[in-house]
Amino acid sequence: MLIEAPTDTLLPVYATFPLRAVAGHGSWLVDDEGNEWLDAYGGHAVASSGHSHPDVVAAIAEQAAKLIFYSTAVPHAGREQLADTLVRLSPEPLGKVFFCNSGAEANENQLNLARRRTGRTTVVTMLGGWHGRTAATLACTDGERYEAGARRAGVPLSRKVRFNDIAALEQAMDDTVAAILLEPVQGFSGARAATPEFLQSARALCDRHGAKLLFDEVQCGVGRTGAFTAAEHFGVTPDAIAMAKGLAAGLPIGAVIVVPSLVDDIKVGDLGSTFGGGPVPCAAALANIGVIEREDLLANVRQVSAQLVAAASQLPHVVQVHGRGFLLGLELDRPAADVQRGLWAHRVLTGTSTDPRTLRLLPPLSLAESEADLLLQALRAVLM
Ligand SMILES: Cc1ncc(COP(=O)(O)O)c(C=O)c1O
Repeated sequence: MLIEAPTDTLLPVYATFPLRAVAGHGSWLVDDEGNEWLDAYGGHAVASSGHSHPDVVAAIAEQAAKLIFYSTAVPHAGREQLADTLVRLSPEPLGKVFFCNSGAEANENQLNLARRRTGRTTVVTMLGGWHGRTAATLACTDGERYEAGARRAGVPLSRKVRFNDIAALEQAMDDTVAAILLEPVQGFSGARAATPEFLQSARALCDRHGAKLLFDEVQCGVGRTGAFTAAEHFGVTPDAIAMAKGLAAGLPIGAVIVVPSLVDDIKVGDLGSTFGGGPVPCAAALANIGVIEREDLLANVRQVSAQLVAAASQLPHVVQVHGRGFLLGLELDRPAADVQRGLWAHRVLTGTSTDPRTLRLLPPLSLAESEADLLLQALRAVLM
């Protein structure tokens, strides 16, 4: 029997948008009444080549028809090709890849690698940082409700320092630190970008203290800053990068891309995942990256972002525009949640952030200039 009424069997842990999505294309989400919504939330930074890009759909269908899954006990060309592609698109010497299924898992694995290599436990992270909901990543995430989860699991909390505060970072570092974990552009805190100087200091401090520099690019990676890795955008190379969200444009996948020296003693069984690097998500990721390259979406991000930032800075009640590329935070002089709700009346979806006055924009990398104009028109109407 079809159940048509909303169910109450799901845990009510998500604040939801006021629509039921049944389809999507490009920057648009289609609801069950056929209405089209401009998706400046990008399905939470996931729809990188847009919703249901025909090339991604075809790659998924083709792979699923051939073989949906076999375990990592069997080598698979798609997995190998995707690893090679990620290495090609990452700054040297990042050269080895491990696949898992989500952002939290990718962070969990890069933390594990850093602790394994250094033999140390302590991790330094940033205030405003957000890294996932496994016990180890909760311990690194800023916010009492997250840290409480780590405490319940008995996991030691990270040392948290003010983002972009070089002196505070220096103070937090000593020879017990295994790693600094940070987002080059913080997502949840409202698209707050690191300064290049801060990242350079983090690199130098890690080198001085024998610690590893880990970038969480789960939200800001895969082209969102206008470069494939945010690391490249900032000109600082970490020891490892975690990616997820936009990598396969909607199929679950996580990747850790590491420098060989971090893993040169790795052995069979040291890491693992049943579903990690499965044939279908790898096919989706390869097709998605193919679209990003063929349609020159990184150039699109840079160009349309410049247009968005310039115009958004002139809007009434916008105090400042934060972030890079298509991870932007509009700091307002009023509650962002009210503006987000106001935009629903114009069928426009955006994100909020842990800063109650910052509205977050994370559209598909394919957002066109004309679509950015529609977003700006709606914002102008709501902010007037
Ligand atoms: C920066 C960052 N890291 C990690 C995560 C966790 O990713 P996932 O929800 O795929 O576990 C998120 C999710 O929003 C994120 O934004």
